[in-house]
Parts: sequence; structure tokens; C-alpha cells
Amino acid sequence: MQLKILTLLSDGNYCSGRELGETLGITRAAIWKHIKQLQQQGLPVVSHRGKGYCWVGGGDLLSVDNIINGSPIPEELVRVYPDVASTNKVALGGVLEGRPSGFTVFAEQQSAGRGRRGRVWASPVAQNLYFSTIFRAGGGVQALQGLSLAVGIVIAEVINDCYDVNCKVKWPNDLLVSGKKLGGILVELAGDASGDCAAVIGIGLNCNMKPSAQDIDQPWTSLVLECGATVSRNTLAAKLLDRLQLDLAVFLSEGFAAFKSRWKKLDVLAGEQLLISGPKHLDAGVGCGVDDLGGLRVLSPLGEKVFYGGEVSVRLS
Ligand code: BTN
Repeated sequence: MQLKILTLLSDGNYCSGRELGETLGITRAAIWKHIKQLQQQGLPVVSHRGKGYCWVGGGDLLSVDNIINGSPIPEELVRVYPDVASTNKVALGGVLEGRPSGFTVFAEQQSAGRGRRGRVWASPVAQNLYFSTIFRAGGGVQALQGLSLAVGIVIAEVINDCYDVNCKVKWPNDLLVSGKKLGGILVELAGDASGDCAAVIGIGLNCNMKPSAQDIDQPWTSLVLECGATVSRNTLAAKLLDRLQLDLAVFLSEGFAAFKSRWKKLDVLAGEQLLISGPKHLDAGVGCGVDDLGGLRVLSPLGEKVFYGGEVSVRLS
């Protein structure tokens, strides 16, 4: 219902509670309740006695038509859902149904968005991009090493091409602007770990989210906060899908090694003093980029060590 209300308000004009209620077949009190919930999620929907409700500046809701309009991606590969638990979960279901590489699920909101290391990914309605793409590869899980880093590079490059920001990558899969988190990538595996396997690449990107009731446990930013203008999520989604399709084909044939030099240009940890914590150890050293498989190279007085994703977390010391 909240998305239906937003659709009616998407032109940025006022619409009365009576008109909204009549169009949607619910009471004015119910409309008011939904508007409150939208406001609690940080959407700039205001009310004015006599005029009704207005989504300040309006907004574009995601649609398959608008996404494929700017992209050569076939329509049957793209789904947009109003509300899911997690787009990764839906895409993992797609893997089991036999959906091909490139099949992509978007959602306007997630009730149980998954972050790395068991965290929750804040997914308020109609403000950000939450999507998951299927990537199939033969050759077992080894063929997927460095995949989330390659995806991070692609996203950071698209963002830097399209907006006046300096998006960087933090190993293994954070997208940062001015040291704050703009987005993240969560790769989940399915299929046969030693043969034909599939990955679901989940991407969360903060687009039009502003400080609000969102309870996020780390410093974050969004494109609107960095650039000062609302972002068209459909246009950005199209560009991302386009570039991902091209670069995932490169990854499939050449692996992460083909992306290493591009990582170097975006790497926020290179030359920095780092603390690396794993389940049983704490290491310190200077970040020296990544190896051909996407492992993080760290130089300490004891020599060089390479860390692989999943096992550790890294912070600047
Ligand atoms: C991280 O912790 O940095 C990774 C966050 C990944 C979030 C995205 S949002 C779309 C997809 N669906 C999920 O449940 N998670 C990923």
C-alpha cells in the first residue's frame, strides 16, 4: 500500500487524503498511518492542512520498463518486487529454478536485508538500490575467487563516471565515499562447490537516503548526501546492469587477475597501517594491494601475509 501511495505522489504534487483514500479504497485514517510509516523510514513526505500530502521533489519508483529502457539487458532477466525479505534470498531461489546468469532481482524494500558477517542491511522503501544478480561459473568455487572485489570495482567506476564523487573500494567488498559506507556487496554461493556452481551477487547502494530514523551501526553516506541532488535509481540501475554484464563476462574468462590494476586505482587501504582480526588472531601491517585471486596483501615486520575474504575483518589502525 505504501508504494501505491508513493506512486500517486511521485509527481511531487499535493494530493488530498480523501483523494488518495478514494483511489486506493482505504480510509483517510489508514492513509495517514501509511504516511507516518513512510516518514519514519526517512522519506520526505509532508502534510499540509487543506492541501493534503506531498512527496517533496517527487521520485521515480523502480520499474522493469524504466531499467531496461536505458540498457540492452533483455526484459526477461529483470524482476522488480515491491517488498521482499532479501533480494539475495529471492535470487538464490532463482538459481534453484534454473534461472541463467544475469537474472537480476530488484526490490523497493527488504524486510530482512542481509549484510556481511550476519549483519542486517538497512533497506528503507524507495530510497536506495537493493538488487541481486545470478552468476554461474564452471570450475567450482575457485572460479569465483575475487568476484566481490571485481563487482566493487565495476560499481565504484560507474558511480565515479556518473556523479561528482570519489567512490573508493575497501577490501573485500565495501564502497566508501569520504571514509563512509555508500554501499556493500554480499556474494552467496549455491550449487556444486567443486563443479558447476552459482553465485548470487547482492548489491546495496545508498542513493537517496538521508539521516532519519534509520538505525545504522556504522558511518554511512548516500549519493544524495554527497552530490546534493536526488538520483534516478532506474537510470543508475540500468548503467550498473550494463557494466556488470560486460565485466562479469571478463571475470568468467580471465578471473580477478584482469581487474587487479583497476583495484589499485580505487584501493582505500593501500599504504595504510591496518589491523586485521580473524577468529583466532589479530595482525597488523601495511596494506599492499591485492593478489591475483583478490587476497589482501599485508606487510608486517615479519614479512608479507595474504588474507582471503570471509575469514577476517580489516580496519585502519
Ligand atoms: C555488506 O555488509 O556490506 C553487504 C551488504 C549487501 C546488501 C545487499 S542489498 C541487496 C542484497 N540483498 C541482501 O539481503 N543483501 C544484499
